Amino acid sequence: MTLKLIQVGLGMHGFGVALHFVKASEDFRYAGVAEINPDRLKNCAAELGVPEENCFTDYKEAFAALEADAVFVTAASPYHYEICKAALEQGLHVLVEKPFVLDIGEACELVGLAKQKGLILMVSQNYRYQNHVLSLKNAIGEVGQPLFVQAQFFYDHFGKDYQQVMDNFMLLEMAVHHVDMIRYLFESNIKSVSGKTWNIEGSMYKGHPNVQASMELDNGMPVFYLGSLVSKGLSSPWEGEWRIQCQEGSIHLGDLGQGYGVYIVDAQQNKRFISYENGPLPDSKQGIHSVLAEFAARIQDGGEPALSGRDNLHTLAALIAFSDSAKTGSVSYPATYIK
Ligand SMILES: NC(=O)c1ccc[n+]([C@@H]2O[C@H](COP(=O)([O-])OP(=O)(O)OC[C@H]3O[C@@H](n4cnc5c(N)ncnc54)[C@H](O)[C@@H]3O)[C@@H](O)[C@H]2O)c1
Repeated sequence: MTLKLIQVGLGMHGFGVALHFVKASEDFRYAGVAEINPDRLKNCAAELGVPEENCFTDYKEAFAALEADAVFVTAASPYHYEICKAALEQGLHVLVEKPFVLDIGEACELVGLAKQKGLILMVSQNYRYQNHVLSLKNAIGEVGQPLFVQAQFFYDHFGKDYQQVMDNFMLLEMAVHHVDMIRYLFESNIKSVSGKTWNIEGSMYKGHPNVQASMELDNGMPVFYLGSLVSKGLSSPWEGEWRIQCQEGSIHLGDLGQGYGVYIVDAQQNKRFISYENGPLPDSKQGIHSVLAEFAARIQDGGEPALSGRDNLHTLAALIAFSDSAKTGSVSYPATYIK
């Protein structure tokens, strides 16, 4: 059965998602689109082939007027909470771009609302369906048990208007991917966090664009993270650069000579590059393709998505815990944020 989707927000990422992923999906067809900027709405809808009568500048009007099963929220992050809430109240299943919302209390409220209404609420943590990340996960165990992890990410990003004024900008817009990766790779939540966030002189951002954090996972493993969105010079690929130190060797996501990808180095310094020629996923299932497929499958069978809002509370709580730890100078415990 093809499900009817309303997409809200057709900005730079939202329109790309519409064109390359929603239009390519066999699971969804457009009931309509909503975008607050009328010129953008008109131009994007024309390219997507959505008829004018199914286009709205007010998402609440779209939810009330259109016959639909689900909403994909790709609007700017500060509006995720109000749009998700309105969609759930209208009885629509929701897929929302990362960051789920900006506030952990609001996230808990939405998870409760979806449960009460019997609706799917899912967060598009698309990196969990990227070959780099899947291969890194598959490599764990190849050189003994993981002992500790270091991950880093550097980029010089020109912030969108909403990003320039956002609190916790780096944490919520970018580190959200890497922190969700940590939880996914090691199938463990983050028990405690000691973090530092900071700005630089002349920065365009109000919220801190740099973050450094030491974490301990529920399984006891230490993880060290350094991320920056104001670093000129050499940029990291989006998934970052990783070293997973294991008992008998090290596993890397980075470029150790044969291009960016996963490498395994054993105790004798033998280096093996993991090629993605045969997967894990074909291009047609990378990232948001698989997110949409999972969303459709869970709408149909009513099961809990791997990327559920409930699961994502643990990613968001860890990020808020980083921020609080940076403000107070003491250790924060993500689980205590989830009510
Ligand atoms: N998963 C990923 O890899 C990834 C990558 C990039 C961006 N994102 C996320 O996607 C979201 C959108 O990012 P973007 O780069 O497109 O931002 P953008 O600023 O380019 O676009 C945001 C769009 O939302 C629209 N909008 C704002 N309020 C609205 C409302 N109330 N109703 C309808 N439309 C509204 C704006 O007019 C704008 O067109 C953000 O949450 C961002 O974090 C995710």
